[in-house]
Amino acid sequence: MAFLELHDIHKSYYLGKEEFPVLKGIDLDFELGEFVSILGESGGGKSTLMNIIGGLDRNFDGSVTIQGQTLDHTKEKQMDNYRRGTIGYIYQSYNLISI
Ligand SMILES: Nc1ncnc2c1ncn2[C@@H]1O[C@H](COP(=O)(O)OP(=O)(O)OP(=O)(O)O)[C@@H](O)[C@H]1O
Ligand SMILES: [Mg+2]
Repeated sequence: MAFLELHDIHKSYYLGKEEFPVLKGIDLDFELGEFVSILGESGGGKSTLMNIIGGLDRNFDGSVTIQGQTLDHTKEKQMDNYRRGTIGYIYQSYNLISI
């Protein structure tokens, strides 16, 4: 069991009823302490995947499992704890608060 496991992640965006698939079945394992780079062409879905790993995007198919526990996006408390205590990342557009 890896620290973080992504299983069969599918994600599409829609323009009206037209579907634009972005992630088409991503399976990935991350071990604790592992240093990983995700590379790909612009528009390839890297930020989309980060939003899913980060617990921000709940509109996808597949599962995200952390330390053996699969995230359940209907459990707000669990998601709050995950975002507060387990996961953190810097957004591509920073989203920092100016002082
Ligand atoms: N909120 C959104 N609504 C509709 N389409 C989106 C949305 N966000 C991203 N997309 C589309 O999904 C695809 C993947 O975008 P994403 O931002 O995940 O790519 P990326 O790999 O992070 O690209 P970049 O290297 O430019 O940061 C692109 O075609 C993009 O236009
Ligand atoms: Mg990006």
